[in-house]
Amino acid sequence: MTNKLETTSVTRPFYQAIGDEEEIFRQGHKAKLPVILKGPTGCGKSRFVDAMAYDLNIPLITVACNEDTSATDLLGRFLIKGNETVWQDGPLTRAVKTGAIFYLDEVVEAREDVIVLIHSLTDYRRILYIDALAEAIAAPASFQLVMSYNPGYQKSFKELKPSTRQRFLALSFTYPKPEIEAQIIQNETGAEEKVCRNLVALANKIRSLSELGLAESVSTRLIVNSALLIKQGVNTRLAAEVGMAQALTDETDTIRAIKDLVALYL
Ligand SMILES: Nc1ncnc2c1ncn2[C@@H]1O[C@H](COP(=O)(O)OP(=O)(O)OP(=O)(O)O)[C@@H](O)[C@H]1O
Ligand SMILES: [Mg+2]
Repeated sequence: MTNKLETTSVTRPFYQAIGDEEEIFRQGHKAKLPVILKGPTGCGKSRFVDAMAYDLNIPLITVACNEDTSATDLLGRFLIKGNETVWQDGPLTRAVKTGAIFYLDEVVEAREDVIVLIHSLTDYRRILYIDALAEAIAAPASFQLVMSYNPGYQKSFKELKPSTRQRFLALSFTYPKPEIEAQIIQNETGAEEKVCRNLVALANKIRSLSELGLAESVSTRLIVNSALLIKQGVNTRLAAEVGMAQALTDETDTIRAIKDLVALYL
């Protein structure tokens, strides 16, 4: 089953720009170009799309893809209600009809027919074909397709084809500079400035140690989680151990190495 979410925020979701990504997104939307966001887990991709949808005042529909996500899940299907068969729009059909931002998270996980489906929506045609209804729906100007993927995951070796990739503007996300990341942590959690700076320094140390052999290193999300616990009064080192060390890996040697760093930095 595909996990989907529809949101409209009342206040602007806090997103701290790292570079010119906000301006590029706005220009991309104006030019009716789809956007692909690539970057490691927990580096702000989803938060960025939330903030952009808010700024553009357009509803956001998010679908998190898994290997079962199919074109039918996105388009819609006939359902039996009593002795009637009724068509129910899927999230993509609804997004095209209402001119929403449609965010396909972890798109490389989805089945190939999802990629085929979006081709006609992501070139000059901007049309969604629904074969089951023999309908073609033109996307209004506000509709935008946004996709994300994590180039670090094994699955993304099953890379997107050039004919798909080359339809999109691509924005690359990485971890922010320490001063900016510390500000993000402080804003998100209300933890003390010094605690935030130390947590970020610790995270950057762990990130720099490729010998730890971590598949994915400390994300901004993990620093936020640790800072939240600290703000609530949990012991600083314990918060970093459960928030970072244990969350990152199951390898006892690596956990021990990270715990040593925690003791050094906090
Ligand atoms: N630039 C940023 N501004 C504000 N908050 C940020 C930023 N970057 C990361 N965060 C914080 O990190 C958390 C994780 O970010 P987010 O959920 O957007 O990551 P993601 O890149 O979508 O990760 P995933 O690939 O796992 O979905 C957010 O909830 C937020 O607290
Ligand atoms: Mg996300």
